[in-house]
Amino acid sequence: MNIQPVNPDTIEQAAELIRSGKLVAFPTETVYGLGADATNDMAVAEIYTVKTRPAFNPLIVHVADITTAKYHVQWSDTAEKLASVFLPGPLTLVMSRLPDSEISLLASAGGDTVGIRIPANKIARDILQAAGVPVAAPSANRSGRVSPTTAMHVYEELGDDIPLILDGGACEVGIESTVVDLSGDEVVLLRPGFVTREQLEYVTGKKVFLAGEGEALKSPGMLASHYAPSLKVRLNVEQPHADEALLAFGPNVPEGAKFIINLSEKGDLKEAAAHLFASLRALDRPDKYSSIAVMKIPDTGIGMAINDRLKRAAA
Ligand code: TXA
Ligand code: MG
Repeated sequence: MNIQPVNPDTIEQAAELIRSGKLVAFPTETVYGLGADATNDMAVAEIYTVKTRPAFNPLIVHVADITTAKYHVQWSDTAEKLASVFLPGPLTLVMSRLPDSEISLLASAGGDTVGIRIPANKIARDILQAAGVPVAAPSANRSGRVSPTTAMHVYEELGDDIPLILDGGACEVGIESTVVDLSGDEVVLLRPGFVTREQLEYVTGKKVFLAGEGEALKSPGMLASHYAPSLKVRLNVEQPHADEALLAFGPNVPEGAKFIINLSEKGDLKEAAAHLFASLRALDRPDKYSSIAVMKIPDTGIGMAINDRLKRAAA
């Protein structure tokens, strides 16, 4: 059984697993999270695999303090006001990525923003300190199921698919963090949670829009997370054109393209997911190529999420 009590040894074990690219379930004050090194593409891909998410939703990235957050995102006055009252605590701030942030593009679902959370829970904080890396952690349930608030719930969801579940007892808050998007001109509430809209408005001194409401339609943080290449994307290509860039998959790559990036030479879907967004961005060069040709990708497992995103890029 992979459930362990919390003590200095198991905290260090959790940190070591995270640093080596493995997944660890741990308590936060809201719900249990399924954590991985947010700077490791393969580890982040593993989160989507284990959760069996049919599409890439952006993941919340947990850090120990504001100083660390500032290495990765564009901090603002509004962020500062919210942080001074609510952080550490059950509030996630979606902010623009800084260009040299090492956080995996997969954690941003290919977008230009990162959801940053600084948890208050002592165990979560100890793990973040010991790991020394930002930790991507969605709720530790399978896709489409309720978030777990005890270690046993996590075990019921994920069983022995992950090497370690740290048992910190029941979560104090029990519902997920409030998610607020600060990346646009308006403050937008993306997910209601423990911190209320009224509290957010009081502390920021600004109107807080609901996603899709009024002004928020014009600067939707949700849409910003959907990166679309500027080049045309052709799917299921068997024969690329001479002026095209080819996004390949597997060992049998057709000749003829101007340039090729292979998502996974050995045909491993998890590796392909890990490289997807960085590869699309690298190939999106209208000055060099006429379009991006994409080879057929198997529509199984995490391949479904890859195809979901490619179809949107091609639309
Ligand atoms: O309380 C919580 O927030 C828990 C604990 C483990 O920290 N985490 C959690 O993560 O609930 P998850 O992945 O189950 O939910 C994340 C929510 C999703 O609705 C996602 O779309 C949104 O936050 N989100 C995260 N990053 C985002 C981003 N960059 N842009 C827009 N939405 C984002
Ligand atoms: Mg969730």
